[in-house]
Amino acid sequence: MEHEIAQIETEVDTCPDATIHLTAGRVSLLVDISKGRLPSILHWGAALAEVDAEVAAVLVRAVIPVIGSNNVSEPPRPAILPEHHTGWVGRPGLTGSFDGTGWSPRFRSESVSLNGVPVSGFVESEQGLLRVDAQDDSGRLQLRLEIELEQSGLVRARSTIKNLGEEKYSLDELSLTFPIPGEATEVLDFTGVHNYERVPQRTTMTTGVHLREQRKGRTGADSAYVLHAGTPGFGFGHGEVWAIHTAWSGNHRHYAERVSTGEQVLGGGEVLLPGEVKLSSGESYQTPWVYASFGNGLDQVARRFHRHLRAREPFVDPDRPVTLNVWEAVYFHQDLDQLLDLAERAATLGVERYVLDDGWFGCRRDDFSGLGDWTVSADVWPDGLHPLINRVRQLGMQFGLWFEPEMVNLDSELARAHPAWIMAARTSLPIESRNQHVLNLALPEAYEHIKARMLAILAEYPIDYIKWDHNRDLTEAGDQTNGGRPVVHAQTLAFYRLLAELRAAHPGLEIESCSSGGARVDLGVLEHADRVWVSDNIDPHDRQAMLRWTAQLLPPEFMGSHIASGRSYTTGRQHDLSFRAGTAIFGHLGIEWDLAQATVQETDELRSWVEFYKQERRLLLGGDMVRMDTPHDDILVHGVINNEKSRAIFASACTDSTYPDPAVRLKFRELDPAARYRVRPVFPGRTPSGLQAPRWWGRATANGVHIDELRLRDQPLTSVRFAGATLSGEMLHTVGVAAPRLHPDQVVIYVLDRVEAPHLNQPSTP
Ligand code: GLA
Repeated sequence: MEHEIAQIETEVDTCPDATIHLTAGRVSLLVDISKGRLPSILHWGAALAEVDAEVAAVLVRAVIPVIGSNNVSEPPRPAILPEHHTGWVGRPGLTGSFDGTGWSPRFRSESVSLNGVPVSGFVESEQGLLRVDAQDDSGRLQLRLEIELEQSGLVRARSTIKNLGEEKYSLDELSLTFPIPGEATEVLDFTGVHNYERVPQRTTMTTGVHLREQRKGRTGADSAYVLHAGTPGFGFGHGEVWAIHTAWSGNHRHYAERVSTGEQVLGGGEVLLPGEVKLSSGESYQTPWVYASFGNGLDQVARRFHRHLRAREPFVDPDRPVTLNVWEAVYFHQDLDQLLDLAERAATLGVERYVLDDGWFGCRRDDFSGLGDWTVSADVWPDGLHPLINRVRQLGMQFGLWFEPEMVNLDSELARAHPAWIMAARTSLPIESRNQHVLNLALPEAYEHIKARMLAILAEYPIDYIKWDHNRDLTEAGDQTNGGRPVVHAQTLAFYRLLAELRAAHPGLEIESCSSGGARVDLGVLEHADRVWVSDNIDPHDRQAMLRWTAQLLPPEFMGSHIASGRSYTTGRQHDLSFRAGTAIFGHLGIEWDLAQATVQETDELRSWVEFYKQERRLLLGGDMVRMDTPHDDILVHGVINNEKSRAIFASACTDSTYPDPAVRLKFRELDPAARYRVRPVFPGRTPSGLQAPRWWGRATANGVHIDELRLRDQPLTSVRFAGATLSGEMLHTVGVAAPRLHPDQVVIYVLDRVEAPHLNQPSTP
């Protein structure tokens, strides 16, 4: 026994102690790596000023908790990878064994580097990548931990485990955790269903685990998405909030845990199925990145994610093309004349990209057949897609095409030729969903086949954009050719590889991640895709909420946001165009509507919304997003503001089902408090129904003619203008302005322009 202790102490000496203070974007991360132990985050939160070696040394001691009665003799110290041997009573970060042995590895850090340079002692840096390599005491497992602070203040971590032993190592779980302080007592994460994704849910942090696991082989409409813990009642603009996101499109977990000794952590990682990862000698497994965002309020949390995506390569330009997707216009009925007519109509509206959806290939005339056969259907398209694409391009629009590469219908040439490529965990196939099964892309032959078919289509036609769909959960996702062993992990990697290979072959190609609407939205897929389809539900009443919350991770330019027909296909609700468009413009705008059915007035109104969007899209899609906390859940106020804080566009929507809506004051956050802004409502289309304008809007005019108040209220009008009012940023935030009264399900757009003080515009005298 004594001998063993002596050995450990010798090993401890091999890694010098280090205290690392990373600080960027008003966030600090203070990491302790001492006595050879795995790194532990002592502070993740608001930036700490004036930390030096002396202060750091005091802090390291100051946060050591007292050992509770009857607990192990070492104080709890939650490491980024919590270990059972330390006496940690919560979930261990690593679970696995060598056939039952080595299940409680004792890791010793061996080297620490920051941005590739070995470090020891106190080190301070702005953004940077901290890397710690460790080995377990049996010498059979090697562990690498990477912790990175980005310029935005966003933190991310991942881990790699390698089997150095002779025997196989079965890995059950490798999760990483971030500590959160005791003040974080309220948890917010998400759930959802097809047609209503990212529904927020709140709960109280209690002892135990709030565990959100996803076992559907895709991110899921009901994914936890971003899991937050914060001070009581935190909102968009207030409260300290800590949040994590697991960047993975396969099975994954998020959790918030409070252990009985009082420590709290947020954790994330991949969910591995039984026997899914068995590491042979020399093999390794890497976790997805787990992102951690701290903020004062949910907007700040979101903004760090937004900055991350905006710094991504390739860059997504906010000047994104207005899209027309034909799905809700024609569904499976693909008829060249009708599709050409749609293209002509779209072009006159100012549409810049035309997307042909499901139904162009094989025997795909409905959702029972054809999936997997990625050749243009000769029945429907005797001359291929050329006549359509040629015209679309002549009209000056880009062309996009729908694929669902990971799926197969049993009624397809592919399924008949290669039944063993279909995923199954037994000799019979899993339950169908949308009449389809999943192709096992972990099989090299299947992967190469699909890749070759897609590349052939991309070679034959000038295609700018792919809508990449994935319309079912993975159930019993096994490899038929290998005893039905689970392959969700391998499938997720194959999916990412296929995206990357297609993009490498076609560098300008844009990809949309769609999965029964919005069931594949995460930072893993967004390393390869350029936007997501938020939901199959385009009803603006529901979209107001879905855009608002999808934005907790994604900036507006990544959210596909369409204007559909007046009566929603999904909900049956009927909405005015001004509400549909005024909702949709806060995302990457598209139209998904049979334009042949639109009236002349609707077409004119739609054109004017497209014009407005094009004029403003650099701000709408490139600005910083602000969501206001309002006293009523049904009054949704949100907007975007430019970097210089000289211009903002806000929207105030009323989605209440009762009338009259409650009287509220509109308040706008994030403006320059000292600057003055002219605020005015704008109506690119018609005024909202039931409008009673507040006095500060001034008199209404249309083409220079005054409109009396009653007429305004009586029926929606076009070309109406108001002068608005000029107030300081501080007043607009703290005092606010009266909201108009509107019928339910209406929106008003406000443009705020900074009014420069005259002397600022004068040239300086020599
Ligand atoms: C999914 C998508 C839709 C559409 C259909 C086509 O449901 O989310 O937008 O592409 O598939 O089958």
